[in-house]
Amino acid sequence: MKTTQLVNENPFLSIREGRLFLEDVDLTQAARKHGTPLFVVSENYLRQNIRAYKSAFEAYWPEGTVKVLPSVKANPNIAIRKIIDSEGGGCDTFGPGELECVIRAGISGENILVNGSIKNKEIIQKSIALGATIILDSPKELELCIEGAQKLGMRANILLRLKPWLGDTDEMSDFIPSSEIRRLTQTIKYGIPTTEVLSMAESLVSCKEVNLLGVHIHMGRHSKKLSVWEQLIESYVLLIKELSDILNGWTPTVVNFGGGFAASLDKETQVAQTNYATPTVEDYAKSMTSAFRNCMTKAHLSTKGIMIQVEPGRATHNQTGLHLTTVRNIKHETKNINHKWAEVDTSEVFLGIHGVNPTPPFDYIVASKADQPNTMTCDIVGMTCNAEWLFEQVAVPELVEDDVIALLNTGSYIEPMAANFNALPRPGMALISGEQCNMIKRHETVDEVFSRQIIPHYLENNSL
Ligand SMILES: Cc1ncc(COP(=O)(O)O)c(C=O)c1O
Repeated sequence: MKTTQLVNENPFLSIREGRLFLEDVDLTQAARKHGTPLFVVSENYLRQNIRAYKSAFEAYWPEGTVKVLPSVKANPNIAIRKIIDSEGGGCDTFGPGELECVIRAGISGENILVNGSIKNKEIIQKSIALGATIILDSPKELELCIEGAQKLGMRANILLRLKPWLGDTDEMSDFIPSSEIRRLTQTIKYGIPTTEVLSMAESLVSCKEVNLLGVHIHMGRHSKKLSVWEQLIESYVLLIKELSDILNGWTPTVVNFGGGFAASLDKETQVAQTNYATPTVEDYAKSMTSAFRNCMTKAHLSTKGIMIQVEPGRATHNQTGLHLTTVRNIKHETKNINHKWAEVDTSEVFLGIHGVNPTPPFDYIVASKADQPNTMTCDIVGMTCNAEWLFEQVAVPELVEDDVIALLNTGSYIEPMAANFNALPRPGMALISGEQCNMIKRHETVDEVFSRQIIPHYLENNSL
């Protein structure tokens, strides 16, 4: 794709005097000052995305309030959470690590959701003490909530994570195109199995230790089709109705729609089907809320005052981030074949694309030569001992050592998945805001790579 087209897709990118800028920061300068490989995030793009989500849902949900709780997993960084908090956004956390992230960011309990598999006593009690909302994933977690609440003399705020049956749709998943979404949403582990949630519901009627605020789902990024999302909501409400009947007419005060909605420029490296249009956030909000309203009305359930919660991850983060890498060497073969390589100082293992990929999962711009014509063809290869074909035989401006390349739309999930293959230290992250560029996670050091290793006593003296 043409550089200008790529720049135009991101409102916070521009080319000034031949250099790529994110907000008002020259990315070539930032790369040279802070060192590469480096993840960078645009603060103002992130703020814009949170506001867009909030205003879209608020516009279509006048019956009650809306809470946007972007998923921590997409970018588990304390500074990022402070930005989201200052926009009135909450946090969808998964597991003790992410809960720790938001505690360290100073987020108050009422803005924290605690998701996660096999939650133990410690995380349940910590969550109750914080006043956070626990998303139950099994009946066992209810027992732990009761125990924790009794111990602390408090009530546990809970949502029930449900597994609605999308019986009426035979749509296939974008992730696993050979599988139906309705089957995957049942077989993937998350949520309380429906048989179990229906049989535990009765015990909630008289349970003083828990405050049953409402219900939760997260379908995941199986489809961009709004008809699938509407079907999800329809089956969600059927389950809410079943619960309501068991719970003597109880209606939820909180209804969480989860995350899973796509980011339009996200190529989703491991996903087979992404090359069809992504609806806008407005269309998504409109579909979800009107499907919910209609189904609730049909089920004779009131929607008055219900808080709608959404947990976007990639949709709020993906396009806010870029990954910067520097060309360290050019190699040229002319003897048996004519082939050039630009060796760069990043790796597929920092980019979540382990193994050889037939198509480049990211778009890229040569940040230091953003206005120059493509006069060279080469492989852009990463630095581990893998083949590291980041981009195979691509047309680029005449690359030389120290040129900086920016990989686009790397703001969700990529950085937290980075690995230490070849014992390489993982890249840091910088936050760009206007003209400012501040590190928000420093580069890992070699000492840190080895800091957890232990030499058993009998190997200490190596002279066998
Ligand atoms: C419970 C929950 N909510 C929200 C999300 C965010 O999903 P996405 O980034 O696809 O929006 C996830 C992702 O796994 C999740 O597990």
